[in-house]
Amino acid sequence: MSKTLFIKTYGCQMNVYDSARMVDVMAAHGYRRVSAPASADVVILNTCHIREIASEKLFSELGRLRRHKSERAAAGEDTIIAVAGCVAQAEGGEIVRRAPWVDVVVGPQTYHRLPRLVARARARAAGGLAALVDTEFPLESKFDHLPEESASQGASAYLTVQEGCDKFCAFCVVPYTRGAESSRPVGEVLAEARRMVAAGAREIVLLGQNVNAYHGAFGAGELGLGGLIRRLDAIEGLERIRYTTSHPSDVDDDLVLAHRDVERLMPFLHLPIQSGSDRVLLAMNRRYRRDDYRRTVERLRRARPDLALASDFIVGFPGESDSDFEQTLALVRDVGFAQAYSFKYSPRSGTPAAAAEGQVPDDVKSERLARLQALIGAEQARYNALFVGTVLDVLFDRAGRYAGQVHGRSPHMQSVHLAGPDRLLGTLRPVRITRSGPNSLAGVLHVRDGRREGRSARPVLGGLA
Ligand code: 5AD
Ligand code: SF4
Repeated sequence: MSKTLFIKTYGCQMNVYDSARMVDVMAAHGYRRVSAPASADVVILNTCHIREIASEKLFSELGRLRRHKSERAAAGEDTIIAVAGCVAQAEGGEIVRRAPWVDVVVGPQTYHRLPRLVARARARAAGGLAALVDTEFPLESKFDHLPEESASQGASAYLTVQEGCDKFCAFCVVPYTRGAESSRPVGEVLAEARRMVAAGAREIVLLGQNVNAYHGAFGAGELGLGGLIRRLDAIEGLERIRYTTSHPSDVDDDLVLAHRDVERLMPFLHLPIQSGSDRVLLAMNRRYRRDDYRRTVERLRRARPDLALASDFIVGFPGESDSDFEQTLALVRDVGFAQAYSFKYSPRSGTPAAAAEGQVPDDVKSERLARLQALIGAEQARYNALFVGTVLDVLFDRAGRYAGQVHGRSPHMQSVHLAGPDRLLGTLRPVRITRSGPNSLAGVLHVRDGRREGRSARPVLGGLA
C-alpha cells in the first residue's frame, strides 16, 4: 500500500509552490497526497514567519497534531511530523524544544532532501533519537535535485523563478529565512513553464520574493524579468502571464515596455510601497521615496493605462507619527489602488527594526490599521464598481464558496463569482459583470455575437495616469 502525505501551507504563494514541489519529491518515493491529517503517515506544515500571527498558528496546529500522533500510535501507526518553510529556517531546533513530538525540521532551500529525512526519522522513531533539523543554505540549488512536477496545479500555476532577497528592509525576515537573492536560469524556467502548460495551466504566475530583480542565466549572458516574460509569451497555449512580488526600485524600462507590448501579461501589478512617508521609508531602508514610487506608477500607467495596482502597507513601524500615517492615507487616496493589504508592524527578532526606538503601542497600531483598511475598502469598492456592465475575460480556477458557483479571476486579478457548472473550471470565458463589492465581482457568462471583443474594459483609476 502506498504511504500517505498531508501538507498544510501557510503564508505566501511561494510557499504554495514549495508545497507542490514537496508533494512531487515525496511522490517520487511512493507518497500519495491526502486531504486530511487523520489518514496521513507524514504530515508537513509549510510555515510562514513574516508576522507574529503566522508563527503562532503553527504552534497551535502542532498541539493538535500531537494528539493526533498519539491516537495513531495507540492504533500501532507511526506519524512523522515535519515543519518546513520560513519558521523552520528561523527557529530550527527551537521548534523541537517547544514541540518535541516534531520529527523533522527542514528549511526552504533543503526540502529536496525530505524523503531521506523522513526515512531517517522513521528509522530513529524506534530508537528515540533526536529530531532531524536541516536548515542549511546549500551551495547546490534544490532545483537541480527536484523531480519534474508530478501533478498539475490547475488552470493557474505558480512558478518560482527567483528566491531570496538582498534588500534588507528593516522589518523583514526574508533575507534571513530565504537567504541571498538568486535567479533560476531562463532555460530551466521555460522548460518548467512548457510542462505546466502541457499539464493544463492557462496562466503562469512567476514568483519571487523580489521577482523583478530576476536576472537568469541565458546563453553567455543574462535576461531580466521583461526578457523572461517575452520568452514566455512565445509558449503556445499559455494565455496569461503574471508575476509577484515586486520591489519599486527594480522596475526597469524593459519591464515597463513588457507591460506595453505583451498582451498576455495581465494588467495587474502588486508593487508594495509599505508607507507614504519619506521619513518612515528611509527608516525602513526601502531605498525609494514616495515621489519615486509615484513616478514608477506613472511610467507603468503610461505603458498600460488599464493597469490595476496593488500594494502592501505596514502601520505602526517604529517612529511612525500621526503625521507620517496621514501621509500614507493621502498616498492611498492619490494613487488609487485596486487592492491593498495592510498589516500592523510585527517585530521580528534579528531584524534591525525590532530593536529600534519608538515602538508604537498596539492600540495606536490597531486604530491606524482600522482607518487604513476602511479607506482601502472604499477604494477597492470604487475600483470594482467601475466594471459593472462591462465584459471581462475570466479564467475559472476553482469551485465557488457556495454549491453551483465557480470562481475565477479577471485580467485585473479581481475575484469573479458566477453561478455555473464545474465544467467551466480551467476555461477562459467572457463574463458580463453584474454586481461589485469591495472584494469581488459577480457576473453572468457573456455570449458574443460572432465578433471577438478585445480588451473590452479598460477603466483607468487614480490621479496619476
Ligand atoms: N510586520 C508587519 N508586516 C510585515 N510585512 C513584512 N514584514 C512585516 C513585519 N515585520 C508585510 C509587508 C510585506 C508583506 C508580505 O508583509 O507589507 O510586503
Ligand atoms: Fe523583505 Fe521584500 Fe524588503 Fe526583501 S524587499 S527585505 S522580501 S520586504
